[in-house]
Amino acid sequence: MFKFDFKVDNPSEEEESIFKDDKQDVVKKQTDKESDVECYESKEIKPSSNILENLDLYKANSMEVVAGDVTLTYIKSGDILQFFDNQTTKDITKAEECHSDLIPGVYEGGAKIWECTEDLIAYLSENFPQDKLQSKKVLDLGCGSGVLGIYAHNCGALVHFQDYNEDVLEKITIPNLCLNLPDDETIDSEKIKFYSGDWLKYTELTKDDEKFDIILTSETIYNPDNQQKLLDTLDAKLSEDGIILLAAKTYYFGVGGGLRQFEELIKTDKRFQSKIVWTSTDGLSREILEIKRNVQ
Ligand SMILES: C[S@@+](CC[C@H](N)C(=O)[O-])C[C@H]1O[C@@H](n2cnc3c(N)ncnc32)[C@H](O)[C@@H]1O
Repeated sequence: MFKFDFKVDNPSEEEESIFKDDKQDVVKKQTDKESDVECYESKEIKPSSNILENLDLYKANSMEVVAGDVTLTYIKSGDILQFFDNQTTKDITKAEECHSDLIPGVYEGGAKIWECTEDLIAYLSENFPQDKLQSKKVLDLGCGSGVLGIYAHNCGALVHFQDYNEDVLEKITIPNLCLNLPDDETIDSEKIKFYSGDWLKYTELTKDDEKFDIILTSETIYNPDNQQKLLDTLDAKLSEDGIILLAAKTYYFGVGGGLRQFEELIKTDKRFQSKIVWTSTDGLSREILEIKRNVQ
C-alpha cells in the first residue's frame, strides 16, 4: 500500500521499506528507459466536484500544524488512495507498483511530503509572516501536496500550484487546499490555479500570465538533467524584483543532483544570484537558498 507521510516515528516493517530511502538521503528511482523520457504536456486542472464530495474522507485523515501565526491543515499518513480506483491515480499507482519514489517522465515524487518542505515552512513562519505574504502572487513550483502554497494562501497570498502529475494535484493538492478553506467557501479560480505537466510546457502554456513575487520550491533539484530546465522556468515566472526560496538536500545520493551543483549553475548562467539563508543542524544536510535576479 502506498502511503504518504511527514514523519514516521516508529515505522512498521512495511513503512520502513517505504521511507528508508528518504532517511538515508537516497531517492529510489526507476532508471529503465531513462534516456528516452517524454515529458507530460501542461494543462490547467480544475477542482472536480467528485473530490469536493469526498472532503469528509480527507478531513477524517487530516492533521493541523501551527506555523507561526498560521494554522495549516493537510492529509496525514494513511491510505487515502485506496478510496480511488487505480485508473484515476495511474501515475502514483505505477510508482507504488515499482516501489519507486521517482519514475522519470512518469511520476516525480509529489504524492508524499518531503522533509525540506518542513524546513521551508519553519523558515517562512519566522521570516515571512502573514503581513509579508498578504496579497502577494506566489507560485508553489513542484508543489506535491502543496503545503508551501497552502501556507502562502492562508497568509492571504494569491497562489498557483504546479506539479508534474495531474493525479497528485487532483487527489492530494486540491483536497489539501480545500481543507484550509472556511466551510462555506470554495476555491476562488481567479486567485488560485493548478497546473500539471513538465516545467517547460507549463512555462509555454502560461507565458502571457503575470509574473510571481515569490516562488517557493522544495526538493526539486535532485535530477541534474532537469536543473537547467528548472532555472529557465524560474526565470520565466519570476517578476523583476521577485524572490525565490528553494529548499533542498545538499546532495541527493542515488540521483546525483545537489545544491553545490545548482549554485554553480546559477553562477555560470548569470541571470540570478543566490545565498544560503538556512542550514540544518540535525540529520541529513539540508539548506534553503534565497535566489534573486542579478542586477545589470
Ligand atoms: C520530490 S517531489 C517534492 C514535492 C514537494 N515540493 C515536497 O517538498 O514535498 C519533486 C516535485 O518536483 C516536481 N517536478 C520534478 N520534475 C519536474 C518537471 N520536469 N516538470 C515539472 N515538475 C517537476 C514534481 O511535481 C514533484 O512534485
